[in-house]
Amino acid sequence: MKNMITRYLALLLLPVLFGCSNLPAGAQENDDPRVEKLLARMTLKEKIGQMNQYSVGPNLTGPSGPQDGRYERFMKGEVGSVLNLVGAEETRKLQKLVVENSRLGIPLIFSYDVIHGYKTIFPLPLAESASWDLDLMEKSARVAAQETAASGVHWTFAPMVDVSRDARWGRVMEGSGEDPYLGSLIANARIKGLQGDDLSDVLTIAACAKHFVGYGFAESGKDYNAVNIGRNMLHNVLLPPFKASVESGAATFMNAFNDIDGVPSTANQYILRELLFQKWGYKGVVVSDWNSIGELVNHGVAKDESQASALAVNAGSHIDMEADAYIENLEQLVKDGIVKEEVIDDAVRRILQLKYDLGLFDDPYKYSDVEREKQIVGASEFKDIAREVAAKSIVLLKSENDLLPLSGKGKIGIIGPLAKDKDSPIGNWRAQGESNSAISLYEGIENAFGDAVQLNYAKGCDLSIGPNNFFEELQIEAEDRSGFAKAVQVARSSDVVLIVLGETAYMSGEARSRSEIGLPGLQLELLKAVHKVNKNIVLVLMNGRPLTIPWAAENVPAIVETWHLGSEAGNAIADVLSGKVNPSGKLPMSFPRAVGQAPIYYNKLNTGRPESDMVFYSHHMDVENSPQYPFGHGLSYTTFDYSNLVVAQNQEEVSVSVQVVNAGDHNGEEVVQLYIRDIVASTSRPVLELKGFTKLMIAVGETKKVEFKLTKTDLSFYDRNGDHVFEPGEFNISVGTSSAKLLTQKIEIN
Ligand code: NOJ
Repeated sequence: MKNMITRYLALLLLPVLFGCSNLPAGAQENDDPRVEKLLARMTLKEKIGQMNQYSVGPNLTGPSGPQDGRYERFMKGEVGSVLNLVGAEETRKLQKLVVENSRLGIPLIFSYDVIHGYKTIFPLPLAESASWDLDLMEKSARVAAQETAASGVHWTFAPMVDVSRDARWGRVMEGSGEDPYLGSLIANARIKGLQGDDLSDVLTIAACAKHFVGYGFAESGKDYNAVNIGRNMLHNVLLPPFKASVESGAATFMNAFNDIDGVPSTANQYILRELLFQKWGYKGVVVSDWNSIGELVNHGVAKDESQASALAVNAGSHIDMEADAYIENLEQLVKDGIVKEEVIDDAVRRILQLKYDLGLFDDPYKYSDVEREKQIVGASEFKDIAREVAAKSIVLLKSENDLLPLSGKGKIGIIGPLAKDKDSPIGNWRAQGESNSAISLYEGIENAFGDAVQLNYAKGCDLSIGPNNFFEELQIEAEDRSGFAKAVQVARSSDVVLIVLGETAYMSGEARSRSEIGLPGLQLELLKAVHKVNKNIVLVLMNGRPLTIPWAAENVPAIVETWHLGSEAGNAIADVLSGKVNPSGKLPMSFPRAVGQAPIYYNKLNTGRPESDMVFYSHHMDVENSPQYPFGHGLSYTTFDYSNLVVAQNQEEVSVSVQVVNAGDHNGEEVVQLYIRDIVASTSRPVLELKGFTKLMIAVGETKKVEFKLTKTDLSFYDRNGDHVFEPGEFNISVGTSSAKLLTQKIEIN
């Protein structure tokens, strides 16, 4: 009895303790009176309508809900946002339909996946991350935002800030690689680029940090697969770029398709309510991924879409993308008391606030201006930016025998299925980027050298058979060797061979996981055939993920990673191969030697059995333990020598300095990287952690002193409780040109 009374009193006291009301955890009344006023006028059905998002147009990325009755729902104000409809005229038309016919005339938000450019296509996000140039990434995101906004679109589902370490996963192309620190800074740059300072500016768009959370850690790199990670990994590796996104003001977040340890992210109370809303104080909107609310049934945590809706909305998913689950079920769920209306209100407040912030209530058509669209979309000045970003995204993996930069004379053999390909460099997730619109490598070389060189071309082999697009499964060509003879003949009669191999656009991206990540199809065979007759080979790789290329790494003297570089790919590659631009990219993701090493990443734990002379240590018996090319690796046409690492400390901070001299014969940019190791801590800490970097130009013969400061916050980590803590003790401080080439000093910090 006494127990019951105490419990009863405690229940009565709860609202007092937590500051009031029935508001769901992490929710707040909105301090914008316009939002509260409008909310007060809305029926429950209209509120739920704001939480309903439909795709209009062809870009479907999964099965969608029933199509019947959608038109009527738009007319009744039962759709709050739209994805995939673009164009000033088209968006204006649909906006008008909704604003003029629905009772309250609440404008729609138009959204679209703009992953690496809208019309002017930039390098894949992973590629661009290799530039380690945050200003440039902000600039490319700004261009993408301008073109998108000028097409009547207000919101993009980017950046993807999932840390990814398994190159089998096709979507590694969309992120910034394996490191949470670099990933956080890049998230910040991209969000700033997309959103600018003012969301209501007609040339900025709302960003979306996705996929919250864990999507990059799908088991065996298989898209949509289960995710099994512990708290340490969650807090120290996966969450930091999302936290950075909150701090950068990302207007929205997107759920992830996956579960974590059995709890699907879309219905995950802990990561949404507790972490995102309560702990981080996030006030923005969370959108589901495509039908991810409906997919809770497949996950086996809901028996039907009604239960799925209750789980998702109660967890804090505010918008239902394409499942039709909220609009079909939430009203009844509220009536039945399973979902509180306060939960709906919290979601709708956030959505309305976003609409106010975008300026849509002042003028619902302000983004949909045909004249502006004509001026901005595909503007010629954007090409120069795309070329600059592309050149800086290139990573020189290997450079021997003085093949590079090219001499600019003699006979160049250009071989390979991607050499004249104008489509693959546009990459997957190409928004309005036109098929076959990139400058091919062949064209770039022609533009750069003109008649000064003689170009001989052979395709060698095909890479795929049949359809090569976003929607269909792709078949890799592995039979037809009829083009080999010509390739060999071209190689034989050339001074130097550029062989262009890798992946087509749709070999990476969503649902493009691979169990083998070598050169697909006949390409390695082609490379070997060419190598037999001419050893002066520059292997130019075009791909969306790290590949395993052990034979090439051993036998080919020069290897250049060019990813999928976008509209200006060929010109940018020629800028680097000709020496006009000295390559300065550094890998944001390790290249494995063999697929069995995946996931392989530099910031690993030491384990109880690290490297050793005896057999019983952590390794594969058939491959070296190191990656083929480590995180942070990237060569230059010059050499940078590091010396004089000085580490000093006072109460507040650790200062680190190093001298870098350009000891070669080309001016060049270098990314100077700072890593730490927390040697003993309450949980096992990685053998290396990136904590700073700076990219700077150093002229031939010049020495630059590079300085870093580290505070105790920089040296902290998330403990078992998810608290960010500094633990005194010994640390290694390392500086160098890659994660595998460092000067190191140990210090004790108390
Ligand atoms: C599914 C993808 O996972 C997500 O990233 C994307 O934004 C949506 N489809 C919408 O296209």
